[in-house]
Amino acid sequence: MREKIKLLGFAGSLRNQSFNKSLLRAAVELCPNEATIEVFDLEGIPVFNQDLENQPPQIVKDFKNKIRAADAILVVTPEYNYSIPGVLKNAIDWASRPYGDNSFEGKPAAIMGASIGMLGTARAQYHLRQCFVYLDMHPINRPEVMVAFALEKFDENHHLKDEKTKKIVVDALTALVEWTRKLKGIAAKPMN
Ligand code: FNR
Repeated sequence: MREKIKLLGFAGSLRNQSFNKSLLRAAVELCPNEATIEVFDLEGIPVFNQDLENQPPQIVKDFKNKIRAADAILVVTPEYNYSIPGVLKNAIDWASRPYGDNSFEGKPAAIMGASIGMLGTARAQYHLRQCFVYLDMHPINRPEVMVAFALEKFDENHHLKDEKTKKIVVDALTALVEWTRKLKGIAAKPMN
C-alpha cells in the first residue's frame, strides 16, 4: 500500500462559528483514504514583529515544524475587505521568516474558502496565490473551492450540508494528493 500523504490544514478565522473552520472540518471528514489532514489552530499566534523573527514564540516554532513535516498544505480562508484576513497573513509571515528559513518553501498546496457573499472568497484566494509565488509554493489550479452564500451551505450545527460543495471538496483534495505524489516523484528522480 502506498504511504499516506500528510496534509496540514489551517483556517484564517478565529471565531467559534466560523464557516471556514467548518469547511476545514468538512475537508477532514471527506478526506480521501490516501491522505490525512492535521489541523493547526492559528489562535494564539502573536502579531509579527521582525525584531523577534530569530527567536520566534513557541507556537510559531510548532507551526513551522508542522508545516515542514507535512507533504502539502491546505489553507481555508475567509475574505476580508477583498483580501485574506490579517490573522492568516500574520501566521504566513511568521512561518516564512527569517529570510532563508521559509517553512513553506516548495510545498504543494490547495486553497478553499467560504463567504456569506456571492463570490465565495475569490478575491482573497487570488491574493493568497500571489503570496504563494513569493513563498515558492505550488498550489493546484483546479478545482477552485469557492463556497458562496455560506449561510445556505451549512446546517445549524455548522456541518457542510450542500452535496455539490462536498463533491468539490473531495475533488480538490484528490487533486492535491495526486499533485503532491507527482511532485514527490519528480523530486525523487535523478537528473540526467
Ligand atoms: C467580511 N466579509 C466579507 N465577505 C466577502 O465576501 N468579501 C469581503 O470582502 C468581506 N469583507 C469582510 C471584512 C471583515 C472585516 C469581516 C469581519 C467580514 C464577510 C465574511 O464573508 C463573513 O464574515 C464570513 O463569515 C467570515 O468567515 P468566517 O469567520 O465565517 O470563517
